[in-house]
Amino acid sequence: MPKASIFYFSGTGNTWWVANELAAALSQRRIEASAYSIEQIAAGRAAELVAASDLVGFGYPIYGSDLPLPMQRFIVEIEVRPAKPAFVFCTQWLWSGDGASLGAAMLRARGFEVRWGEHFHMPSNVSVPVLPWPLHTDAPPAKAKYLRHSSFRVQRLAEHIAQGRLFYRGFNTLSTVAGLLQRAPYRRHLHKFRDALAPDPARCTRCTLCVRLCPTDNLLLEHDTIRTVGRCVLCLRCYSFCPEYAMLYCGRAHRHGPPFRGPSLGFDPFALIGPHKRF
Ligand SMILES: Cc1cc2nc3c(=O)[nH]c(=O)nc-3n(C[C@H](O)[C@H](O)[C@H](O)COP(=O)(O)O)c2cc1C
Ligand code: SF4
Ligand code: SF4
Repeated sequence: MPKASIFYFSGTGNTWWVANELAAALSQRRIEASAYSIEQIAAGRAAELVAASDLVGFGYPIYGSDLPLPMQRFIVEIEVRPAKPAFVFCTQWLWSGDGASLGAAMLRARGFEVRWGEHFHMPSNVSVPVLPWPLHTDAPPAKAKYLRHSSFRVQRLAEHIAQGRLFYRGFNTLSTVAGLLQRAPYRRHLHKFRDALAPDPARCTRCTLCVRLCPTDNLLLEHDTIRTVGRCVLCLRCYSFCPEYAMLYCGRAHRHGPPFRGPSLGFDPFALIGPHKRF
């Protein structure tokens, strides 16, 4: 049976959900597939998995039409010669522009032959107070609607892969232009936000959950205070899962109901984490 490895980065669980659904859908079609969080595998192990796979997949959430920095670093770390078939997908709330084709271009430069690309609409994880109205929802029925829609796309992508039919959705000029327009300001201003998330000392109980969950070691407990060290990649994991809603964004406190807590009720963010920090 052919083997597939799917590597993903997921801040708050949406991409984890799609990666695991895809692995199951491929396995049902006689492609033995496993999904790996890039936080759980060292660079050397990734290279071994790629070498042992007939097909490789990559998934990430879209941040301002860009790839999260840990995923960019992961892609730069691996190289494949001779070329190997690959697929790429991103998860997004509304619109990513060229979210998947950007990753495809990066992967082609590393030697992958990207034959499939897809975008999945998932609930917004942007719970931070950026606008006067909420962008996120943590209501299970609303989240279930997104999952139903994405399930359909997972099955369709798996079928195209199993049949060996090329499939690229959202790889067109309009998406490329829209992606460029959103990505340029995002990249220009990202550095200003690398310390934007920090706990409110008045609400924080120093439970250290955020410290343990952070994929970049940006949060440190020192002298009974959680401090930041400028490595935030804006995954929003700390903000979403703090039991006290104590995380501040640019000094502003959470409002508008519970923050986004993953794609389904009881989602455990520890499923995502590992010792390999890429930032
Ligand atoms: C910093 C940041 C930027 C985002 N930018 C976009 C965007 O440009 N377009 C969009 O549709 N969703 C955007 N989102 C929403 C996420 O891409 C979406 O909710 C994704 O599924 C989260 O995946 P995860 O749970 O695996 O981290 C953004 C989220 C964050 C945290
Ligand atoms: S998870 Fe929340 S309460 Fe716990 S240490 Fe972090 S900010 Fe404080
Ligand atoms: S500080 Fe929070 S948002 Fe930033 S990388 Fe760490 S967990 Fe993600």
